[in-house]
Amino acid sequence: MEINSICVCGAGTMGRGIAQACAQAGFATTLFDVNTEVLESASSTIEKSLAQLTAKGKITGDKAARTLQLISYSDDIHSCLADIFIEAIVEKTAAKISLFNQLAELNHGDAIFASNTSSLSVTEIANGVLHPERVIGLHFFNPATLMKLVEVVKTPYTNEATSGTATALVRQLNKVPVLCTDAPGFIVNRVARPFYIESLRLLEEGLTTAEQADRLLESAGFRMGPFKLMDLIGHDINYAVSSSVWEQLQKPERLRPSAVQEEKVKSGKLGKKSGEGFYRYE
Ligand SMILES: NC(=O)c1ccc[n+]([C@@H]2O[C@H](COP(=O)([O-])OP(=O)(O)OC[C@H]3O[C@@H](n4cnc5c(N)ncnc54)[C@H](O)[C@@H]3O)[C@@H](O)[C@H]2O)c1
Repeated sequence: MEINSICVCGAGTMGRGIAQACAQAGFATTLFDVNTEVLESASSTIEKSLAQLTAKGKITGDKAARTLQLISYSDDIHSCLADIFIEAIVEKTAAKISLFNQLAELNHGDAIFASNTSSLSVTEIANGVLHPERVIGLHFFNPATLMKLVEVVKTPYTNEATSGTATALVRQLNKVPVLCTDAPGFIVNRVARPFYIESLRLLEEGLTTAEQADRLLESAGFRMGPFKLMDLIGHDINYAVSSSVWEQLQKPERLRPSAVQEEKVKSGKLGKKSGEGFYRYE
C-alpha cells in the first residue's frame, strides 16, 4: 500500500521527533495530542530544530519551510485521517487500544496502526483492536529525528501487507528498519536493561555518583553515560519499560527495577523534560 498521509498521536518527547522526521521525508503529517500546551511546545521544538539544521547547512531554508507546511497540529481526534497512525502516547496498553479503536472507526479500511511502545506487548495491543492484522510495532529511538534504527515489530496477527508497507515507510523516512518478533523489550531494550539497572545499583550501593559513572562510560566509548541517557529518555518512561520487561520475564532479580528511579518518578524529577533528573536543565 502507498502511504500518502501520516498521523502521529502524542506530541511529547517521541511524537514530535517522529512527526518532524515524517514531514522532512515529504509526508503530509498530522500531529495529534490531547494536551494543547504540549502541541504548542512541540511546534516550537520542531521550528527550532529545523532552524538549527538550516543554520548548520544540513537542509536548505526552502526544505525547512516545506517541512513546516507539511505538519498540522490538532487536539481533535476527528481531524486524524491518515493512511498510517504512529502512536507515541502514554505507555499503557488500554490507552493505546482505545486510541486505535477510535481511529479505526474514523478511517478507511486499509489504515495501519503502528505503536511506538518501548516495552508493552504489541500482540496484546493488537488483541484488543478491531483489525489486529493491521497493527504493528514501529519502535523509534530518541531523538527520533537523528536515530536511524527503527524496530519493526510483527505480531502473530500482522499481515504481510502491513509489515511490507511499514518497512518500506521506515526506509522512506531515511531510517533503517530491523524486523523483530514481539517479545519483552524487543531486541534493543532487552539488551539495554542491565546497562541502566546495574548503573542504578552502583549508585544505590554508594559505589559511584551519576557524574562519575557517566564520565567513565563515556571515556570507555559510550556516546552517552547511563544517567544522562535516562534523563534524556525520561525516568517515567525508562522506569515503565524496566518494570514491564521485568514483569513479562517473570521478575528475575537481576532485572528488578531500581527504587532510586522509582523515587525520581514519584518526585516528578523526570529528567530533561521536567527540568531535573540526575542533572538540572535550563
Ligand atoms: N522517551 C523515549 O526515549 C522513548 C523511546 C522510544 C519509545 N518510547 C515510547 O513512546 C511513547 C511515548 O513516550 P514519550 O517519551 O514521547 O512520552 P511523553 O510523556 O513525552 O508524551 C506522551 C504524550 O502523549 C499524550 N497523550 C496521552 N494520551 C493521549 C491520547 N489518548 N491521545 C493523544 N495524546 C495522548 C500526552 O499528552 C503526552 O504529550 C511511549 O509508548 C514510550 O514507551 C519512548
